[in-house]
Amino acid sequence: MNNLVIAIDGPSGAGKSTIAKLIAKKLNIVYIDTGAMYRALTYKLLMNKIDFSDLSKIKKVLRQTHIDFKNNHIYLDEAIVDDEIRTNIINKNVSNVAKIKDVRLKLVEIQREIAKNKSVIMDGRDIASHVLPNADFKFYLSATPEERGKRRYKELTKNNNNISLEDVIKDMKERDKIDSTREISPLIKTEDAVEIDTTNKSIDEVVDFIISYVKRR
Ligand code: C5P
Repeated sequence: MNNLVIAIDGPSGAGKSTIAKLIAKKLNIVYIDTGAMYRALTYKLLMNKIDFSDLSKIKKVLRQTHIDFKNNHIYLDEAIVDDEIRTNIINKNVSNVAKIKDVRLKLVEIQREIAKNKSVIMDGRDIASHVLPNADFKFYLSATPEERGKRRYKELTKNNNNISLEDVIKDMKERDKIDSTREISPLIKTEDAVEIDTTNKSIDEVVDFIISYVKRR
């Protein structure tokens, strides 16, 4: 049987990772969270106090960085960083790291390597347009900024981050702006992607819709 490749793109808080994770489980395929990879690298740069404009240091870090997924955990240089990458400080900085060309070249290479010869569902911003342009199925998840902000707020306050809903929405809009206007592979909805507005839909509704769409074809 041929491998099944599903690409999911969309802005933050549209429900991509929760939904992709559930679909991966139900279809018994591999889930690849590309946002987590940009977050892990951002975490490393911040920990090492590296200026995002210092390209030579960033290139050096890239050469010495290992990012991988094992048993539903993200590993940065052999350490699990699931919680460290979900904080407000990472949210505030990640888009400025993700717009750096060398960062994207390296992470996209790893993403394609992980996806090679496997059935996968990969979520991010440039999956349909750039990372896996030949994916069998492409979905673009959207939701209103208010709804997306509320979801992110819930996620952040779970980890005791001291932040208001207004600030979360403001930061998220800022991140969306950087992600969709950057020069290299910005967030776009490709023409061949199916758009799903998740604002008033439950997670299960979206999961069921995607699975039945995939099974119908
Ligand atoms: O999906 P998540 O919100 O975790 O992504 C964090 C950030 O990583 C995004 O805001 C974006 O800047 C970057 N990203 C990206 N390309 C991807 C996935 C994420 O630029 N494929």
